[in-house]
Amino acid sequence: MIKFNLFAACALAGMAFAALAADPLPPPSPRPNVTYTADIKPIFDDSCVKCHRGKKPHGKLKLDSLQGVLKGGQDGKVVIPGNSAKSLLVRSVAHTTTDHDLWMPTNKKKNAQPLTPEQIGLIRAWIDQGAK
Ligand code: HEC
Repeated sequence: MIKFNLFAACALAGMAFAALAADPLPPPSPRPNVTYTADIKPIFDDSCVKCHRGKKPHGKLKLDSLQGVLKGGQDGKVVIPGNSAKSLLVRSVAHTTTDHDLWMPTNKKKNAQPLTPEQIGLIRAWIDQGAK
C-alpha cells in the first residue's frame, strides 16, 4: 500500500512537472540587439496600430510609440522588460490568456491575421533584452 502511494505520488509529481515544463509560447528569437524602432514597430504598424493609437486607443493601450507600449493599457503594464513569458502583450498575441477577449489582434471587424510564431519570438527577444 505504501509502495503504491509512493508510486502514485511520483507519477503525479511527474505529471505536474511535465505541465510546468510545457511552454505554449513560441521560443524567443536568438537575434541580438532587437529594438522597438527597427524590429517591433513594423510588426505593430502592420497588425495593431489601427486599433492601438490616437486619442482613444482600444484597451487604452497605444502601440505606436515605445513610451505608449511601456506605459501599458487599462489593465496596467503589458510589457515586463526582461520577462517576456509573463508579459501580457506576449500572452495576448500567443493566445495563452484565459480571457479570450485579450487574444490579439482581435479578428472581429477588420479581419486581422494572427502574428506568426517568428514575429512572437522576435517580440519575446525584444522584451527579454530589456524592451529598448
Ligand atoms: C481590431 C482592433 C484591434 C487590433 C487590430 C488589435 N487590438 Fe489589441 N485590443 C483591442 C481591444 C478592443 C482591446 C480591449 C479588449 C478588452 O478589454 O476586452 C485590446 C486590448 C489589448 C491589450 C490589453 C490591454 C490591457 O491593458 O488590457 C493588449 C496587450 C493588446 N490589445 C495588444 C495588441 C497587439 C500586440 C496587437 C497587434 C498584434 C493588437 N492588440 C491588435 C483591439 C485591437
